Amino acid sequence: MAENRDFFYRRLHSLLGVIPIGIFLIQHLVVNHFAVYGRESFERAAGFMHNLPFRLLLETFVIYLPILFHAILGVYIVFTVKYNNRRYGFFRNLMFTLQRVSGIITLIFIAWHVWETRIALGLGLVELDYSLMENILESPFMFWFYIIGVISTTFHFANGLWSFLVTWGFTITPRSQRIATYVTLIVFLAISYIGVRTLIQFAYGV
Ligand code: HEM
Repeated sequence: MAENRDFFYRRLHSLLGVIPIGIFLIQHLVVNHFAVYGRESFERAAGFMHNLPFRLLLETFVIYLPILFHAILGVYIVFTVKYNNRRYGFFRNLMFTLQRVSGIITLIFIAWHVWETRIALGLGLVELDYSLMENILESPFMFWFYIIGVISTTFHFANGLWSFLVTWGFTITPRSQRIATYVTLIVFLAISYIGVRTLIQFAYGV
């Protein structure tokens, strides 16, 4: 019985990493990328998301609760679950370790990012406009903190997509897993580019 429950929680953890958290991550990076087309474009795109009806309800059930569940179980997995990885080669074992390391870095990054944006907005300490991120990223320390945080998150998602495909039985053969490695590498490079390009825009206005 307890095994069934563990199995269910692990499957839910895996699913939530892609739907809805992964989908939200891509949407979030794409909306922010409007900054590259200028202040107005960004403010229009961010304002559209901010003014969606039932926003708090959507945020709670599509973003906060799934991330909270995934993060809490994720920390538990990182510090308690051991695996016998001998049947995988060096590369997959390395990716497996990096998945856990990036999970922790991503957690620290998201907690800070949510604090200085969404919570600060909610408390009325800042306004939602282009200068919010411009001011934050003015500091070289914060710029590099964000670069590391964004790349950690995009890596965690893309590499997680690879293991998600195995977990749910989509990629069973070595050949399909090899193809998935290349596809998820492209996903990683594409979304990292979108995120990093946006950060450079806010920091340097390039
Ligand atoms: C934007 C935020 C995040 C996204 C998009 C995301 C996505 C994913 C995905 C898709 C997986 C693969 C699921 C599978 O193996 O079937 C995964 C696994 C994992 N995530 Fe996350 N995650 C995020 C945040 C976090 C955080 C904050 C932690 C906290 C430590 C975390 C810890 C883990 C761990 C430990 C695994 C591996 C589970 C295992 O090996 O069974 N994740 N994540």
